[in-house]
Amino acid sequence: MTFDLLVKNANLVDERTGIDIAVNGGRIVAVEAGISAEAARTIDAGGKLVTAPFIDIHFHMDATLSLGTPRLNRSGTLLEGIQLWSELKPLLTKEAVIERALRYCDLAVSQGLLAVRSHVDVCDDRLVGVEALLEVRDLVKDYLDLQLVAFPQDGLYRSATAENNLLRALDMGVDVVGGIPHFERTMEDGRLSVRALCEIAAERGLMVDLHCDETDDPLSRHIETLAYETQRLGLHGRVAGSHLTSMHSMDNYYVSKLLPLIAEAEIHCIPNPVANIVLQGRHDTYPKRRGMMRVPELMALGVNVAFGQDSCMDPWYPFGNADMLDVAHMAVHTGHMTSQDAVKACFRAITENAARAFGLEGYGVSPGCNADFVLLDARDAIEAVRLRASRLAVVRRGKVIAETSPRSTALLIEGRPASVKPWRYAPVEHSVS
Ligand code: FE2
Repeated sequence: MTFDLLVKNANLVDERTGIDIAVNGGRIVAVEAGISAEAARTIDAGGKLVTAPFIDIHFHMDATLSLGTPRLNRSGTLLEGIQLWSELKPLLTKEAVIERALRYCDLAVSQGLLAVRSHVDVCDDRLVGVEALLEVRDLVKDYLDLQLVAFPQDGLYRSATAENNLLRALDMGVDVVGGIPHFERTMEDGRLSVRALCEIAAERGLMVDLHCDETDDPLSRHIETLAYETQRLGLHGRVAGSHLTSMHSMDNYYVSKLLPLIAEAEIHCIPNPVANIVLQGRHDTYPKRRGMMRVPELMALGVNVAFGQDSCMDPWYPFGNADMLDVAHMAVHTGHMTSQDAVKACFRAITENAARAFGLEGYGVSPGCNADFVLLDARDAIEAVRLRASRLAVVRRGKVIAETSPRSTALLIEGRPASVKPWRYAPVEHSVS
């Protein structure tokens, strides 16, 4: 038998080593040791990690790569970011949004990031961003899955035409219902917006993903309403709460009630560590709060936690490189998640957990799955996060669509070796006498 592609001697995320992966017709047909057959192309993984692709479950593709247009965010706050975006919005053209988005998708593919859930602002009666990203979704579909969320950035009720525009966007083919309850004029408007948005999703059979409680105000508790409405409407497993930064500042007793409600409603929780580490706590002196939702505690309860990047060179975040390993790396630090198990959990949060929240089918490195995977210049998930490893090969439906040379540095010090070898942690056995 001849395969289209054969990857030899790979390590897998489940810690199997020396595994071969055979691909035919865009699907994985075998994952086992010792496959010996002809293949149109063979890749020697050399004991490096092959993982299913990275997924960014929370992004803003209509704003990406717009940094500095029309000006920079001087305060660094979320609110100035929203103000700046409102200055840029009337200047947007469909062509410019498409051009930026396509450039970003190229970058994403080079980083092994093959699925992105992007919010798209519907608070512009022209719906320029919606039209542009629907076109982009179609243009990139052979190499990247783009899922769109109708996002009323200026508030479902705070912006006069947002509700109607959101419905228009869904009619045009946007996939997911979005919202921003903490930005409405009152807590009550926020609560009503959550109810209305969940009802729209229930009627249309859609998923929900709300920007929820992205504030340092410990009394911002719209996640409680989101869990309640999810229960009431039977939307279990179809609803996501993004950001949830107020959870960082909430009273511990209240959180002990809240987290089981989130678990019961099967809400996907989506922290955005790189963006929120700089956006939150801006009104604090010292100590400065860091505005991260309680990731280890949610994971311990079995809640599906997936990390998003949120922004890349836009009004809210001036850095970013479509690198989900950067996101996991930041999550490890902000969440005190440095144990071996916790780092592995952070790796899952940018891969399989995100696939579950996305509703992505055929995901994984197993027979029958789509032949989508990434060969990393690292031997396991922990090393991948530590090194933010190069993506040596990115495969989509059995075809190599991006390659990167391994990083190497020549050491020019007399008496030292010519190159720097990667160092690896190995537990040391201590004998006690
Ligand atoms: Fe966001």
